[in-house]
Amino acid sequence: METLNFLTPEIVRSAAEKVGTPAYIYSQETIEKRCSEVLAFPNAYGFNARYALKANPHLAILKIIEGKGLHFDASSEYEVMRCLHAGIPADKIQLTGQQFPKKHLKEIFEAGVLFNACSLRQLEEFGKNFPGSNVSFRINPGTGSGSNRKTNVGGPSASFGIWHEYTDQITKIADKYQLKVTRIHSHIGSGSDPEVWKAVAEMTLAQADKFPDVHTVNLGGGFKVARMSSEKSTDLQSVGEFVKQVFITHASSTGNEYKLEIEPGTYLSANCGSLICEVDDITDTGAEGYKFLKLNTGMDTITRPALYASEHPIILLNDSSETEDYVICGHCCESGDVFTVDESDTLTERNVAKANIGDLVVIEGAGAYCASMSLKNYNSFPTAPQLLLKDNELKVILAPQEIQDILAPEIVPN
Ligand code: LLP
Repeated sequence: METLNFLTPEIVRSAAEKVGTPAYIYSQETIEKRCSEVLAFPNAYGFNARYALKANPHLAILKIIEGKGLHFDASSEYEVMRCLHAGIPADKIQLTGQQFPKKHLKEIFEAGVLFNACSLRQLEEFGKNFPGSNVSFRINPGTGSGSNRKTNVGGPSASFGIWHEYTDQITKIADKYQLKVTRIHSHIGSGSDPEVWKAVAEMTLAQADKFPDVHTVNLGGGFKVARMSSEKSTDLQSVGEFVKQVFITHASSTGNEYKLEIEPGTYLSANCGSLICEVDDITDTGAEGYKFLKLNTGMDTITRPALYASEHPIILLNDSSETEDYVICGHCCESGDVFTVDESDTLTERNVAKANIGDLVVIEGAGAYCASMSLKNYNSFPTAPQLLLKDNELKVILAPQEIQDILAPEIVPN
């Protein structure tokens, strides 16, 4: 049976009274603890950790993480604007995005934001607009690894980064615009196999050697985090120690002592957040069918189960001594709005406390790619409010949305 990460039934009840359900609750203490673990990552010639804010870009979370001394990796010009709005210095922000900036192009790079080109076209555009600048590029090392097909972003089927056989074209573009390649980057997926991640470290170092001004090698994020008690988290110290040796061996044969960067998102946020909700209904499809436990939240608020068949701990807060097997589903009018489904889209059952309508429920592992990656306002359900738990005190950091907030921006032409 799964257990609560940092909440207590009393805190859950107090949050539900304060803002209703569903609602996200983040733990400041847990975020800070994860930051300390990441900052202790073994390294040989200097180290910098970035937070991949796409996991959870809430301004309050950015400030907590900045306060611990981490830098940031943004996935769009709008995430860069978010960081600047939070008062984060531009030189602590790196942009690694699939889309080249447009609306805020001048503003962000004239402010000093670091650019990590993810295609030859991006490098060309950046060179055209900012000749003579320092630049990084993201390499597709030819292989990748993720917890599922949709989170593997390396290898021939991934559009991310510049293919590893095209480094001559990088040099040509850099020379054309007097760009100095000072950093190189690779990110191969989320929930990646540590063995693949280690192998890619060596490939990335070999690529860095082709660019004499490179001083920093960023090996991306992707560290596995156990959300379910049956899963296993990547041991940062163990993979870090291995990669530290790779850097030292590389330096002994090339003389190139590279500074290391990593940029986790999941590791810093996944188990720092919980989604509280309630049992809305219990239905079944007969003796041969299923028993459905219906929650008052769903894919509009937490999309990972529907998108990846990801498993999240689901804990009912009641005093039932009995348990029951349920298919646990969401409240959207979609047959795919299910929390218990396997990768072949087959319904599975979860054994939880025997439920009563109105029971409070906690969904754990909801701090990363949940609020940030949700199908906001699907079925016109309001966006879930968010709370920060600090020193056992709950503070509202995203107010409950009302239907009026959803309708206000809509224009009915006359
Ligand atoms: N750096 C880059 C360039 C990335 O694209 C990502 C994640 C990260 C770092 C951080 O990876 P992490 O440490 O969070 O695994 N939505 C999926 C995860 C996909 C993340 C996409 N990029 C999920 O819900 O698991």
